Amino acid sequence: MSTAGSASAPGSASAPGSEDVPGADVSGPEDAPVIELSGLARRFPGPPPVTALQPTDLVVRRNDYLAITGPSGSGKSTLLHLLGLLDTPSAGRYLLDGIDTGPLSDPDRAALRGRRIGFVFQAFHLLPHRTALENVQLALTYHQVPRAERRPRALAALERLGLAHRTDALPTTLSGGERQRVAIARALVNRPGLLLCDEPTGDLDSANARAVLDEFDVLHAQGLTLLVITHDPTVAGRAGRHVAMRDGRLTAEVTR
Ligand SMILES: Nc1ncnc2c1ncn2[C@@H]1O[C@H](COP(=O)(O)OP(=O)(O)OP(=O)(O)O)[C@@H](O)[C@H]1O
Ligand SMILES: [Mg+2]
Repeated sequence: MSTAGSASAPGSASAPGSEDVPGADVSGPEDAPVIELSGLARRFPGPPPVTALQPTDLVVRRNDYLAITGPSGSGKSTLLHLLGLLDTPSAGRYLLDGIDTGPLSDPDRAALRGRRIGFVFQAFHLLPHRTALENVQLALTYHQVPRAERRPRALAALERLGLAHRTDALPTTLSGGERQRVAIARALVNRPGLLLCDEPTGDLDSANARAVLDEFDVLHAQGLTLLVITHDPTVAGRAGRHVAMRDGRLTAEVTR
């Protein structure tokens, strides 16, 4: 066991490109840091005030597959929201692909998020009155992908998740596993280099959970950087690195 997180030099600056491989649009060495946190903290003012994330140091390198476990309320989602640029820290520094995210304007943060990050949430967050295909396609609308490209790209993303036959189905008619696969297709359709997942198998039976984890293995083999929050030791066991969290602190890196 070693302590979680380590300091290291900032990574190279991002250089957006057009390659069709997840994670391939950033220059620099293969093990360049994707995420570098120094003293990152989040305090909710309350009342009562809650320090959901104590000052935290962590480095996640390109193509790392990192699991974060910890009891309910330990700050896992808080950390993930900060990493996903959905929330701003109260203190500390977060470099994403070497870019200091602190001084960025809201539109710049949104653009960086759209270009680099895919999200998979426990509760799927699919629009109930849109088909699977429309749900995936909408993710492209937000990121200025030309209209003519949206449908084929969304279809391809659903196909790779084994959902070619369910593209016109509404989420309410899909199984939990299928819904989660639509959510993953939506997270991947913008070809992010970093996939952040909050309890991605939390609502799934074991067969569907295995299918999702198999897909993560494929994505990891293709070069994606993955960060997965989970309560489930089986899920954590599939990741290359495993960090435990307690009371807003990354307590230890569990090595296997
Ligand atoms: N917006 C908020 N305002 C105030 N407190 C919050 C807010 N969001 C989270 N918290 C608190 O911060 C702590 C960490 O919450 P967080 O959601 O990060 O936990 P978690 O580890 O993801 O838990 P779970 O496993 O139940 O999802 C909790 O005490 C929670 O009540
Ligand atoms: Mg949570």
